[in-house]
Amino acid sequence: MTRIGNLQIDAPFFQAGLAGYSDTAMRLVARRHGCPYCITEAMLDRLLLAGGKGLKPALLDPQDHPIAGQIMGSEPDEMARSAELLLGLGYDAIDVNLACPVKKIRRKFRGGHLLATPEQAIAILAAVRSAVGDRAPCTVKLRRGSDDSAGAEARFHRIYQATIDLGYSAAVVHCRTVEQKYNGPSRWPFLQDLVARYGDTPGFTIGGSGDIWQAQDIFRMIEQTGVELVSVARGCIGNPWIFVQARAMLDGDAAATGRPPSIFQQRQVLLEHFHLAVQVHGESRAGVQMRKFGIRFARHHPDGEAVRQGFIGVRTIADWQAVLDRHYAEDGPGIVPHQALPDEATPTCCEPAEAHPMQWPARSAAVSAAPHGTTAPSGPLASSGC
Ligand SMILES: Cc1cc2nc3c(=O)[nH]c(=O)nc-3n(C[C@H](O)[C@H](O)[C@H](O)COP(=O)(O)O)c2cc1C
Repeated sequence: MTRIGNLQIDAPFFQAGLAGYSDTAMRLVARRHGCPYCITEAMLDRLLLAGGKGLKPALLDPQDHPIAGQIMGSEPDEMARSAELLLGLGYDAIDVNLACPVKKIRRKFRGGHLLATPEQAIAILAAVRSAVGDRAPCTVKLRRGSDDSAGAEARFHRIYQATIDLGYSAAVVHCRTVEQKYNGPSRWPFLQDLVARYGDTPGFTIGGSGDIWQAQDIFRMIEQTGVELVSVARGCIGNPWIFVQARAMLDGDAAATGRPPSIFQQRQVLLEHFHLAVQVHGESRAGVQMRKFGIRFARHHPDGEAVRQGFIGVRTIADWQAVLDRHYAEDGPGIVPHQALPDEATPTCCEPAEAHPMQWPARSAAVSAAPHGTTAPSGPLASSGC
């Protein structure tokens, strides 16, 4: 068991926040494949506090627990109020984002850019912790620094130590700098050093993030660095089987990663994910979501490039169904995907929703044939903007 405050997680990994991807639909699919814990994508405090559309991405499905709601902002008071708001919505933990490297976030001194201003970062951490009190664990997501300078490292440790002193239950560190964004490798020895320095702190769980592409990477990170908790991020986009394989490896099946999902298993998950996305977003936004997921799912298909091209060309729900009929109609073995290229899923944190919604017919054949008896909601949800 891995502990995050009063939460007990029965496996040492979780699905990370992934802006533009890790919505309710992706999280439910992950949970059905063995993921024990999820963190939402970063939600802007001001959007949450504004209510209405800004609040919709935060609404929870009853099956979507345990879950941490991740908040991002620059004002301690607003961050504290949004933490309270998320607790009221039923979140099990509150996670503070001090990691997002996106340029437009920098201008407002939010996310990872707060690593350059430790006083402000610590004021936010203190305000959130005091607002939440003993009602739920507080956690934080950081990068290993704003850049590679000695000063940045010193500022990181000041903030990290404050996290512990304030009674945070866990901190997950993405071992790239803010300046590095997603370029180059994640520096795992940084985590090893964190464990050496802070590993004996009672009630505090050290987590790591960066370059987890396959199930065995989870256990490699644990072995090499000593962290207790591993964040699965780009490695689970279009690949919920990473959780099945990681569970199997926990049970001693070291060869689990070498058994990719069959074509029919892939088809079933594509359908399941699609129908959940329709429930969450409505048909037209679900289509946008599923196109990018389809492209990532294609990596498991032996004819991956053709399937990828098929999903890229999708414009209507009929096109989407046609890709399934053309490439997933016959069963057969899937393949172990090559390591994802870092630019395949570039973060669009806090960017508005894609500007090219597909044209879906009012009521599609695929949706009326939904296997779980799903019905389309009244209308597409607005983007969280984050
Ligand atoms: C598309 C995308 C969106 C992301 N959104 C978030 C986010 O909202 N919150 C967060 O804490 N991290 C976010 N991240 C960072 C990941 O959680 C993770 O730390 C990072 O991708 C490094 O792990 P990886 O190399 O295994 O993918 C995002 C990353 C990507 C690629």
